[in-house]
This record gives sequence, structure tokens and C-alpha cells, in this order.
Amino acid sequence: MTQLSGTPDVPDLGRRQFMNLLTFGAVTGTALGALYPVVKYFIPPSSGGTGGGVTAKDALGNDVVLSKFLEEHKTGERVLAQGLKGDPTYITVEGSDAIASYGLNAVCTHLGCVVPWNANENKFMCPCHGSQYNNEGKVVRGPAPLSLALVHAAPTEDGKVAFTQWTETDFRTQEEPWWV
Ligand code: FES
Repeated sequence: MTQLSGTPDVPDLGRRQFMNLLTFGAVTGTALGALYPVVKYFIPPSSGGTGGGVTAKDALGNDVVLSKFLEEHKTGERVLAQGLKGDPTYITVEGSDAIASYGLNAVCTHLGCVVPWNANENKFMCPCHGSQYNNEGKVVRGPAPLSLALVHAAPTEDGKVAFTQWTETDFRTQEEPWWV
């Protein structure tokens, strides 16, 4: 049998180092914990997908810059951007200096095809099984059971476009949002 009491220095040293490590860990943990809100403050909201909102991105993954976007698109156009959770989301151009305050999730509520905008028909028409949605994304022909999901779309202080969750009543149906 090894006698632990015969080697008093080694366990002592190990114990001291262990205690030092614990102390270091506690101090570091506390310091990091204190720093966390500071670090978080400096990370721009657009870099994350959480927190309820995202910056709209174009097909190349670049932030949509509103002034440029409005130069490049005409009134009445519905333009696809990347929205919440990366979902394809339409921005509606309402005028030379305005977008609609809502975005439309382009995923068909039938089986999930991305629904194209048909300017001639003034509707969104799904090529997969023929569902149709009016110019605000309200379903007008099945088999899609529900209207396209809404998000809020708003200019940001730095000239971009932010999408945030739409949790209020659906203004097209006066019903509670099915997508929340
Ligand atoms: Fe759009 Fe079926 S997926 S109609």
C-alpha cells in the first residue's frame, strides 16, 4: 500500500495549484461575465439572427441599402430579400422613396415552394400546384390553406432595411397570425 502521508509535499503542491486554478477560473469567469454586456453592446445587431430582427440581405448576401434599392426598383415591384431565419421575403416598393411597412415570406403555405410575383396578374402565383395570393400575400386560391406570413419591414437609422417578427393581428384577414 502506498502511504499518502509519506509524500506530504506532492499532494500539497497539487492541491495549491488546484486551488490557484479554481481561483483563476472564478476570477476569469467573473471578469468575462462582467465584460459580456460590454462586448455584446459593440456587436452590431445586424450580425446576428437572434433578438427578433435581421437586416434584409440581397441575393449576394449583402445588406440591402435602402437608397440604392429604391434607385434600382420601380414602384409596385416585389423584390426578394433574405429575411428572418434566412427565409426569402418580399419587399414591396411603394413609391420612389418608400417601401411597404410589411414584408411577405415567399414560402408557399401549401408545400413550401417559393412563390413568384406576377406583375401582369398583380398576384403571387405558385408554379407548383397553382395557389394564388393577392398583391398583399392574402391567399385567394388554393390548395394553399393560408396567406403568406408577414414580417415588419422598416428603414434603419443607418439606411438599411430591418425585418422584425409580426406578432400582431394579420391586417389582411383580421385574424391572429398563424405563423407565430
Ligand atoms: Fe405552392 Fe403547392 S407549394 S401550391
